[in-house]
Amino acid sequence: MIPVVLDCDPGHDDVFAILLAAAHPGIDLRAITTVAGNGTLDQVTRNALRVCTLAGITGIPVAAGAASDKTAPRIHGASALDGADLPEPADLLSSDGAVAVMERLLEQAPLTIVATGPLTNVAALLERRPDLRPEIVLMGGSCGRGNWRPLAEFNIWADPEAADRVFTSGLPVTMCGLDVTHQALATPDVFERLRAMATPLADTMADLLRFFASTYDEVFGMPDPPVHDPVAVAAVAKPSLLKFVDAPVAVELDGTHTRGATVVDLHGITGRPANVRVAVELDRPGFWDMMLSAIERLGRA
Ligand code: BDR
Ligand code: CA
Repeated sequence: MIPVVLDCDPGHDDVFAILLAAAHPGIDLRAITTVAGNGTLDQVTRNALRVCTLAGITGIPVAAGAASDKTAPRIHGASALDGADLPEPADLLSSDGAVAVMERLLEQAPLTIVATGPLTNVAALLERRPDLRPEIVLMGGSCGRGNWRPLAEFNIWADPEAADRVFTSGLPVTMCGLDVTHQALATPDVFERLRAMATPLADTMADLLRFFASTYDEVFGMPDPPVHDPVAVAAVAKPSLLKFVDAPVAVELDGTHTRGATVVDLHGITGRPANVRVAVELDRPGFWDMMLSAIERLGRA
């Protein structure tokens, strides 16, 4: 089993990432840490705790990290998780912060950080403990267009300096950007398969997905929304579901119109050494089979 800390900002698609990381037999989920992004730090932390309560995920520490006022209510709603009523949190928040929890776990054993929000916590960890050498698999960036700015994806746009620190760290970094997450579309068959499970968890996930689909349709004209974040978990749980290429990737920190863009040199034009393993293709049926069986397993537990 691969030991993982999931650093997230739930957020609809982050909830899918939490469920996949908690239920997949190949992943040993050691902690869930939160970072402001889709909502304020208080909102996303409360959402993480509520999801654990809903799905019966117990014994996994949940720790809060960095705050920010760059949030995304037009996609995720006023609570950062609109569309379904989730239970009040049963578990308590860890008294340690996100970075302290990651630090303690990494002192004990190597692990992979799966980051599905802005990279503020991860960058703070690398700054504080450059001697600790996690592998980092992140949802963020894009080889081409963006979603929050024409060329910038939300997680990188929200804290480009943190992303730059991660991409230039020399650590093994895998980027699951919009190129692959826009292949993880929640098409009508996904809703049908969730409803057919007929468990309270699957019904709640379908309700959440319905809300997410409505905002994606409104904002991007995409009625089948991309469920971004669990793709990064899938890249750890079953890398054979994705195709990767090694490439030099830089984060634009200064551009007048392009701050937060990931500049991915797929053709080696810059001559710079590759620093990132970039996911470029996803086996969509295989991904959804894995994702939906995780929801089924948790729903019946
Ligand atoms: C990313 O931004 C957030 O809104 C999603 O949760 C995902 O992590 C997609 O750009
Ligand atoms: Ca996210």
